[in-house]
Amino acid sequence: MRQITMVGTGYVGLVTGACLADFGNQVICGDVDEDKIAILERGEIPFYEPGLRELVDRNRQKGRLRFSTDIPDSIRRSDIIFIAVGTPMEDDGGVDLSAVMAVAQTIADHLEGYTIVVNKSTVPVGTGARVREIIRQRTNDEAEFDVVSNPEFLREGSAIRDFTHPDRVVIGTSSPRAMKIMSEIYRPLYLIETPIVRTTVETAEMIKYASNAFLATKISFINEVANLCEQVGADVQVVAKAVGLDGRIGPKFLHAGPGYGGSCFPKDTVGFLKVAEAAGSGLEIVQAAVRVNHQQRRRMVQKVSDAVGDLKGKTIGVLGLSFKPRTDDVREAPAIHVIRDMQEKGASIRAYDPAAMDNARKILNGVEYCDDAYSVCRGAHALVFMTEWNEFRELDLMRIKELLEEPVIIDTRNIYEPEDMSQLGFRYTGVGRGRPRPA
Ligand code: UDX
Repeated sequence: MRQITMVGTGYVGLVTGACLADFGNQVICGDVDEDKIAILERGEIPFYEPGLRELVDRNRQKGRLRFSTDIPDSIRRSDIIFIAVGTPMEDDGGVDLSAVMAVAQTIADHLEGYTIVVNKSTVPVGTGARVREIIRQRTNDEAEFDVVSNPEFLREGSAIRDFTHPDRVVIGTSSPRAMKIMSEIYRPLYLIETPIVRTTVETAEMIKYASNAFLATKISFINEVANLCEQVGADVQVVAKAVGLDGRIGPKFLHAGPGYGGSCFPKDTVGFLKVAEAAGSGLEIVQAAVRVNHQQRRRMVQKVSDAVGDLKGKTIGVLGLSFKPRTDDVREAPAIHVIRDMQEKGASIRAYDPAAMDNARKILNGVEYCDDAYSVCRGAHALVFMTEWNEFRELDLMRIKELLEEPVIIDTRNIYEPEDMSQLGFRYTGVGRGRPRPA
């Protein structure tokens, strides 16, 4: 059992803190944001993540998890301090490390006894070394600490399962003492034989960027193939399935769609390019993946105008606002970009999302929010599926058809089958679902 402080109670910090408490450690989740801590102390979770509330409740009841705004006090009590603060994208695509560096300074000013400083935030290669430098400069030479990079690979919507059943755990440090303690922290995962990659700080930082950039590239790759399928009369769903059956490629992250969004891929791919640029290297494949992702969103808008003509004066219904199902997160969601683009072209938007409407309200103007999928359709010239929530898979399509002004559907997530939809009398467009040419 270790005494752990998690600095930053955002998505990563809260999930990691609650899971480490569940492993039996004493965890303090600290944040400078007093409102956030007040919300957590009331037993509420500031964002939507299945199972997290129960996990937090259970561990608070057992006395293993608590919240605090007094970060210096938590630091003094802890053997291990995780830095899990935000690293937002700067205007030029660089990574804003000011929060990470501020935490490093606070740690330096308050650490007592041997302390391990673990970086969980996604940061450019070399940040761990900078954190070490800052702490060393501000403390006396006797201060005993080590810096570790321990990147997270949590997906929103399945973060707890991803933490407890990860594909791998990456621990980067050159200190055998820190490595031993970090390995102990993850010991509960040995039982399920989780591979642990033990490496240096720099390599661990690189692993995180390379993993996310590869996954983003896989998505952009299949999206380009989808576009080609449309030209030549092939079906990307079948192509992706067959390609994915090759064990060297694998079936995951081969779903064609409106492009990737979320808090990680868009930021991390661009951040990775910045790291490469600073090192004088091109990283051309990742550059192309980013470019294709931007184009893909625009293509979705083009599909809508191809189906309904000039968007000026048209009403478009949009289903799904979050960047993927099972989250209320709208950061970099393709839906948000597509809606703004359609609004600029003169369309009025009616929209519904099971979880993300409150967040969408904060960043979109002029959207009419509806109570369900059916009221979105009322008077709309087309219905656009932007997120593949399960509840959009079982809709009463005949009712939808009656409510729509025109029977037009643009399904950017390939939820439905083109054949079925045209039999029902819809003018239906998916992604990458070319029609075979007549013999
Ligand atoms: C991702 C990584 O998966 C995780 O390892 C990392 O730590 C954080 O970033 P997350 O952003 O929660 O997690 O979402 P993910 O499920 O990876 O999806 C990212 C985006 O890609 C979504 O917009 C999703 O719709 C899109 N996507 C995903 C596709 O368009 N096609 C696919 O085949 C898979």
